[in-house]
Amino acid sequence: MLACALALAQAAPRYNIVPTPKHLTEAPGVFCMDKNTALVVEDAAFEEIAADFKEQVKHVSPLAGKKTRIVLRRCAGFGKEAYKLTVTPTEVLIEASEVNGAFYALQTFKQLLPVEIYQPNGLKKSVKFIAPCCTIEDEPEFWYRGFLFDCGRFFFSKEEIMKFIDLMATYKQNMFHWHLTEDQGWRIQIDKYPRLTEVGAWRKETAWHSGIGNGIPHGGFYTKDDIREVVEYARRRCVTVIPEVEIPGHSTAAIAAYPELSCFPDRHYEVETKWGIHKNLYAPTATTFRFLEDVFTELFELFPSPIYHIGGDEAPKDVYRESAYCQDLMTVLGLDNVEELQTFFVKRIGDFLKKHGKTCIGWDEILDGGALEDPIAMSYRGHAPAAKGIKRGIRVILTPNRWCYLDNRQEDQPDNVDQNVFMPLKKVYNYYPAVDSLRELSAKFIVGYETCLWTEYIPDNAKAEYQAFPRNVAAAEVGWTSRGNKDWESFRERMPKVLATLDMKDVKYCRVYYDVIFDYDRNVPFPKPMNLELDDPTAEVHYTLDGSTPTIKSPRYDGVPFMVDKGSVIKARGFRKGKPIGQVVTKTFEK
Ligand code: ACM
Repeated sequence: MLACALALAQAAPRYNIVPTPKHLTEAPGVFCMDKNTALVVEDAAFEEIAADFKEQVKHVSPLAGKKTRIVLRRCAGFGKEAYKLTVTPTEVLIEASEVNGAFYALQTFKQLLPVEIYQPNGLKKSVKFIAPCCTIEDEPEFWYRGFLFDCGRFFFSKEEIMKFIDLMATYKQNMFHWHLTEDQGWRIQIDKYPRLTEVGAWRKETAWHSGIGNGIPHGGFYTKDDIREVVEYARRRCVTVIPEVEIPGHSTAAIAAYPELSCFPDRHYEVETKWGIHKNLYAPTATTFRFLEDVFTELFELFPSPIYHIGGDEAPKDVYRESAYCQDLMTVLGLDNVEELQTFFVKRIGDFLKKHGKTCIGWDEILDGGALEDPIAMSYRGHAPAAKGIKRGIRVILTPNRWCYLDNRQEDQPDNVDQNVFMPLKKVYNYYPAVDSLRELSAKFIVGYETCLWTEYIPDNAKAEYQAFPRNVAAAEVGWTSRGNKDWESFRERMPKVLATLDMKDVKYCRVYYDVIFDYDRNVPFPKPMNLELDDPTAEVHYTLDGSTPTIKSPRYDGVPFMVDKGSVIKARGFRKGKPIGQVVTKTFEK
């Protein structure tokens, strides 16, 4: 029985689509895209995505043939992101009402072809570009399928950003949440306030885990032209770029540039070098409101997104308590406590954004104040804030940190002592954005799901890609695919093609799929249980406890955790059909 299951699992899936579409009807035969294929665009609305597609596949065909056709047809009756894709031996028919749907149909079609479709610099070997016949009717489960990139803690180049956006689009994520301001750096050019980038974009050093600075200056910012380029790149891939400007906390970099924005302008401020929660807040003064309105006014020209993120998290209000101005203001406004002062602040900015046609997203603290008109809350401290929001009829996006923060470890990372939550691929995949005790309200008010790449311990792009992939592909399926259609076993089988695609796109992903993962709880005292995980369903795990290299003859891990103690050395490796895969991984617990 097991042998039979393994044999089945080893046959590569015929349809290898990620995220799994809503309905797929299999059909015999294949469509071959080659020099005989034409691209027929029946409606001008689809010209732009058709031109981009043509450019992307020009190493395969100029799409000016006469025998077979890829047809883009605009039809009424589809949701914005919905499409129908019919593949027969002579024709690929794409039907959609809007560009987004047609764009997603093209992503699906590319996934039906060999991964060399993504080969950036022409074909390195001869490949037949055949797609298996089928009919697919598809639409997303969630309207908001987001990915946050924290460019405040470390700066990432616009090219690095665009590579992430391309990967999002490949897997049908649609909201790029760009975390642009932080205590440790302000990252966006604002003409009216040049010191934001002259001063606020640079810190003198970075203090790592120990809190001791490394002596190496760090910084950078995006010019307005950079932003325009990124936003346009994203638009062509049906990705909305949502800027985040944090208020009232996480604002030390701005305050270092303009101390008059703080409650104590005479104090000396520097761009932060340490991580964590800091006490500098924008003061609720006319100066600050003018500043923020000016900043947002410049952002309106750059970010057409109807949604803006205003932060709102982690703002300890010590300075509001200390400041005589704040205390007087509370008296004038009739506010009982400093929490209400934050609410006043956030509401003031929220109203300004609303007046300009923007919907505000805030971290789940915005639910504490409850003053924003029709906000969207991002539930990051677990599910309780989501429950609170949806009971009040507030739209919520789920990004609970134990399931969605991609800086959590996906394997054993001894150098990274602060990110203690074990969040392997399977955990990301099996998450579903709902409050299970509130199913109906969840279906109504949970509008989406987001993964967050916080970068305190991610100083460069290689590490960013490593942390994000392949987990963010699993996340894409979480956001798109209905609960009933999600299936970890199926996802595991589709992973080899995902990884081959990531290879084609030169993504430095974590090769966790082929390597054994040590799953144990750092907080449990010794001796403690050790579980060995391997995502590849076609492989088995063999391990040793005596320091020797595991072979096929070493004990096979049978899924039952064993006990390890101080001084234990565990070596493990996956084997497929008796042959080793991945690396030998070693875990040593010091005596
Ligand atoms: C957050 O993790 N402070 C949003």
